[in-house]
Amino acid sequence: MHEPTLDKFPRKVLAQISVERAFIVSRLIVAAERLQVFRLLHRKHMKADAIGRALKIHKFYLKGFLNSLISAGLLRKANDLYWNTPLAEKYFVAERSIYWTRQYSKECVEAYDALTLLEKVLTSGRSYRSIKGLHKPSYTEAMKRDRHQAEDFTQMLFHYHQEDAEALAHYLELSERGAVLDVGGGSGVMSIALAKKNPHLRACILDIAPVCRIAAGNIRRAGMARRVATLPGDLRHRLPAGYDVIMFCDIGAVSMQLLENAYSSLPANGLIVLADRYLSNDGTQPLSRLVAQFVGSSFPQATWADMVEAVKSCGFRAVKARNAYRDVWYITGVKPGRGPLHD
Ligand SMILES: C[S@@+](CC[C@H](N)C(=O)[O-])C[C@H]1O[C@@H](n2cnc3c(N)ncnc32)[C@H](O)[C@@H]1O
Repeated sequence: MHEPTLDKFPRKVLAQISVERAFIVSRLIVAAERLQVFRLLHRKHMKADAIGRALKIHKFYLKGFLNSLISAGLLRKANDLYWNTPLAEKYFVAERSIYWTRQYSKECVEAYDALTLLEKVLTSGRSYRSIKGLHKPSYTEAMKRDRHQAEDFTQMLFHYHQEDAEALAHYLELSERGAVLDVGGGSGVMSIALAKKNPHLRACILDIAPVCRIAAGNIRRAGMARRVATLPGDLRHRLPAGYDVIMFCDIGAVSMQLLENAYSSLPANGLIVLADRYLSNDGTQPLSRLVAQFVGSSFPQATWADMVEAVKSCGFRAVKARNAYRDVWYITGVKPGRGPLHD
């Protein structure tokens, strides 16, 4: 999935948006997503009144809202008929799952709320939630409580990580490997791709129970149920034995405790794999990860070089780091031992 980064927008649209006002335009686009304007207009031309009725937008704001979306390069109109531009069709409908629309636009709204306190956050060193006296459950607790939340989050990543999964399957040499433990494996997107690429390989997704149920559906639909399994559990506990590859994808900085647990569960010559959007060594990239900390993200961050050192210090050898594409890094290491794969 490609995101509608600003380079995708027409220059004449961007030329009208000052940096200070960009957040208003951005918030209007998020509102359009939440109200599902672009999905309603998918391959359709509709009159303003009909759009207003379908999406329950008050007539006081309706035309101003739609005209702003025209100005932003996302809609067109003629004779009071409105339709999506190719940009909106491609990035907000065709390439974006409904789960992404729901989950991501909800996260954006929370972020706008958090940003009202940004100066206080910066000067106090506290999170916006603690300043507001809010208690928000962790995202895994929220998914345990609400199956819709679990579905939106997990399936959002199933679509978002397709490209990452194919690239990982292409990169890893697994012809001599038998079984992969996919720790925090979520939707199963990575394991499914690895199993498709390597017809002999088995994989198991370790995640919380509601996520495992969703992963099981994805595995069934991919026709992989004979080789890809799920294991409900907590990744902070001991990792099960019986896997010669242990993988951590998109779970942020992997703690020393987790790396040590992986080391003790792997057999000699076992392979550890980390795949994520780690920070660059000078800490200035990627922008998407850096800014998340100011709106309450507790996703643990580390540079790719920090992760390489952590993997080495746990005892893994032949540690390699590879910038797979864009800001995605793969880090691999082998547990020392006798045998043909020992390096
Ligand atoms: C950002 S998602 C990544 C999912 C998947 N690895 C991928 O690349 O698409 C992180 C996953 O870790 C799982 N997770 C987080 N904490 C966990 C815990 N304590 N026990 C089990 N799973 C956990 C979450 O439920 C979620 O599915």
